[in-house]
Amino acid sequence: MRGSFSKIGFGTISKKLEVESSWRSIRLVAPYFRRHLSKLLWGFLALMLVDVLQLIIPRVVKWAVDALQQGQATRWMLLEYGLYIILIALIIGVFRFVWRQLILGFSRTLEIELRNRLFSHLLSLDKAFFQRTTIGEVMALATNDLSSVQLASGMGVVAFVDAVFMGLAAVGFMLYIHPVLTIVAVSPMPILAILTRVLSSRLHRRFKRVQEQFSLMTEFVRSALASIRLVKAYNQEAFQAERFAQMGETYVRNNLRLAFIYGTMFPISGFIGNAGMLLVVVFGGRLAILGSITAGDFVAFISYLFIMTWPMMAMGWVADLFQRGVTSLARIEALMNEKPGLSDIAGPDLHVISRGVIQFKTQTFTYPGSVEPCLKQISIDIAQGKVLGIVGRTGAGKTTLCNLLARLYPVEDGTLFFDGLDVNKLSLHTVRSAISYVPQDVMLFSDTIAFNIALGKPDASVEDIERVAKAAAIHDEIIAMPQGYLSRIGERGIKLSGGQRQRLAIARALLLDRPIIIIDDGLSAVDMETEHSIIQSIASYLRGRTCIIVSHRVAPLADANEILVMDNGRIVDRGPHDELIKHSAFYATIYKHQTSGHSGLWKFG
Ligand SMILES: Nc1ncnc2c1ncn2[C@@H]1O[C@H](COP(=O)(O)OP(=O)(O)OP(=O)(O)O)[C@@H](O)[C@H]1O
Ligand SMILES: [Mg+2]
Repeated sequence: MRGSFSKIGFGTISKKLEVESSWRSIRLVAPYFRRHLSKLLWGFLALMLVDVLQLIIPRVVKWAVDALQQGQATRWMLLEYGLYIILIALIIGVFRFVWRQLILGFSRTLEIELRNRLFSHLLSLDKAFFQRTTIGEVMALATNDLSSVQLASGMGVVAFVDAVFMGLAAVGFMLYIHPVLTIVAVSPMPILAILTRVLSSRLHRRFKRVQEQFSLMTEFVRSALASIRLVKAYNQEAFQAERFAQMGETYVRNNLRLAFIYGTMFPISGFIGNAGMLLVVVFGGRLAILGSITAGDFVAFISYLFIMTWPMMAMGWVADLFQRGVTSLARIEALMNEKPGLSDIAGPDLHVISRGVIQFKTQTFTYPGSVEPCLKQISIDIAQGKVLGIVGRTGAGKTTLCNLLARLYPVEDGTLFFDGLDVNKLSLHTVRSAISYVPQDVMLFSDTIAFNIALGKPDASVEDIERVAKAAAIHDEIIAMPQGYLSRIGERGIKLSGGQRQRLAIARALLLDRPIIIIDDGLSAVDMETEHSIIQSIASYLRGRTCIIVSHRVAPLADANEILVMDNGRIVDRGPHDELIKHSAFYATIYKHQTSGHSGLWKFG
């Protein structure tokens, strides 16, 4: 079955944000409405004023028609009525501007505040969350879903208030003219209410599907662009484009299914409006002929019924906007309810880790969501200013161990201590601000070199930045670039070589004056000579700091106080370099390979 893996992959993404949408999600935005209540009230006041003024226009027309019919109308009189209408229209224009500013302005404020909250919340979530959720899904929430919340809380609320007020007021004016005729005219309307109810749950479901498909597409584009080099190297452009087109087709299909409902709703509500009109022409016309109402009343009545068609149509639209808003809000709420797996301590933490003494003793560690433990029977004791080396086969658990020490995953009470303090009693901030971490996969921002080096210390001076760049043996290459430290390095450092990226990451860590430094395979992409010069030049920086250095090569570890040899999640050997050469077969082998210029593993030809 060709291509079946990819299909499985995309079909199963992100089921966890699929939530039962309910109106309860409104509690997420309720505080914003409360906070901006006075602004909103003024806005609605202006809106209602516009409605009232609009309803007065048919009255003016009625006066004109009645005057004409009774033969009392003069040219000046008609001109005066015309001027009234223009004046009313002008005032309407002013107040329309006012409500748009206030209410739609509010909805934009709400959108941006919610977006900020969402972003801060995302930043608080940990690695475990991002392993479960795709970035594309999060992006879709931050764009499509937020904008449907914005639309519902701006235009949706406006249309709702407007429709209800305008509808009631129009009915009021109609009742004033002729109660029985009003009842006849509005009699077809309950059909509309029933129709809206019947269709709305279906609308809801279909809209949710549209949003989910959009999430999938966003994620697809993101991952394809993020790995564009891979896509090209494997000649996958056409295949990726085809898959995207297929997803697009599903998106269109879902949208059409949604549009089918509108396609039914709007014509039916228009038809019901017109059916009312027919009734008014027939019955109202008879009343006018019989003299129960004047010709002016008849004309005004028709105008009111005409005005009524908007609230009727609007109700369907409003129902839809609210449904969409609530669906999106529920999706956003599900994300906001995500808790970081790594909980922080309550209240402030006055501890400072200054010495960098580390003790770690644990039976097992299992990644959240995994079954098999990745680490077993780990016991580490590092005194202040000592260097711990870690070697081991790929997949042995070296990075996992560093992640735990860097406080990226939760650990049990009484297992990990910094300066003798249990890590679970320290705030994340306290722990993390004691550690400089150079992760194995270097992360760079699409910004300048200077920005990337100074990431942890944005106020660093130019001299400081240059000093650490020299120590990481990258200064010369930076100044050779046309814009030096201000060169932009492209998306995730695409314009740099692998070795340059690594050295940038090391420079970044050296800039931070912290008692503990963890370097996870930070020199794997540089040649031995560069490696040698970096080791020599950073030695003085590392002096006095507690260092944990993971390496596939033995050279950076030769002077370590202790080296751990890891295999299959366990520490299988430990000791300084000289001892390990004697009693660790693994260590002795890699040492021999790396120092004897061993080559010819690939037996070609
Ligand atoms: N986030 C994760 N969730 C589940 N399992 C993971 C996760 N990260 C790593 N693992 C698993 O944990 C084991 C150890 O991985 P780890 O990255 O610690 O190895 P490593 O020693 O750093 O390897 P390398 O030398 O290739 O960097 C591997 O079997 C890997 O599949
Ligand atoms: Mg690793």
